[in-house]
Amino acid sequence: MLAVGSGGKHLEEELRKLGGDLVGIEIKKFPDGEKYVCVSGSPREATVVQSTFAPQDEHIVELLLIADALRENGAEKLRAVVPYLAYSRQDRVTKNGEPVSVRAIMKTLGVYYDELYVFDIHNPGTLRFFPGKAVNLSPAKAMAEYFGERLGDGIVLAPDKGALGRAKAVAEKLGLEYSHFEKERISPTEVRMKPVDVDVAGRNVLIVDDIISTGGTMIRAANLLKDMGAEKVFVAATHGVFAEGAIERVGKAVDELAVTNTIPTPVSKISVVPEIVKL
Ligand code: R5P
Repeated sequence: MLAVGSGGKHLEEELRKLGGDLVGIEIKKFPDGEKYVCVSGSPREATVVQSTFAPQDEHIVELLLIADALRENGAEKLRAVVPYLAYSRQDRVTKNGEPVSVRAIMKTLGVYYDELYVFDIHNPGTLRFFPGKAVNLSPAKAMAEYFGERLGDGIVLAPDKGALGRAKAVAEKLGLEYSHFEKERISPTEVRMKPVDVDVAGRNVLIVDDIISTGGTMIRAANLLKDMGAEKVFVAATHGVFAEGAIERVGKAVDELAVTNTIPTPVSKISVVPEIVKL
């Protein structure tokens, strides 16, 4: 049975439509800011859907409280579906004294959950920190369905070599060509990119990435493509972690911007719910 926390509220209607009845959960805040959770069902197995976008820490605590309540009510098997896993970019120590934050989150979730499902995690290698079964789901099918017709016989590009797998997964679903840019990050807000070595003149292009934050990567890529004579430039990303003004800035630079609904944003037009209800 599915249970939805406040980080999954925006998916609730579609989850109910495609996945059936949900466990009732009351979620409130105490006057001092602490969370109060009360589940009304007692399923033996439950799948808790909770994305952990801002306020990240509150959503994580809720995920733990919901699991504790479900265990208290007799649940024997719990799965966490965390479409956007907060702290997943803090996957290494860069300065003495820092934690591997994603490890702390995964190990803690592992105290309560038997299985963990995430979408397009920043570093899939970090899933090994979760003690049980951990799966990285892909939004490629949903992205291909959304952009397929708009793209026609266009090309799918990744903004850097590391993201090539994403572009490949979308392109293969549509039977299209794919490639990648060469990207070098100069600072947290500045990237240097070289044009791709494929001919994009007169063709539609879809750029696929895992995250859009400041939008710098996508804007740079879109401008290069326009300079190379691309027809329409579309942008898709799994997680819209948009910094202030990024939606508008990217929107102006491209013909269409769409992200998935792992995080609710005004451009979360691609749904991951069909993948969740398949689990
Ligand atoms: C980098 O590793 C990620 O895949 C994204 O390319 C990056 O987070 C995008 O950031 P921004 O939108 O700030 O360029």
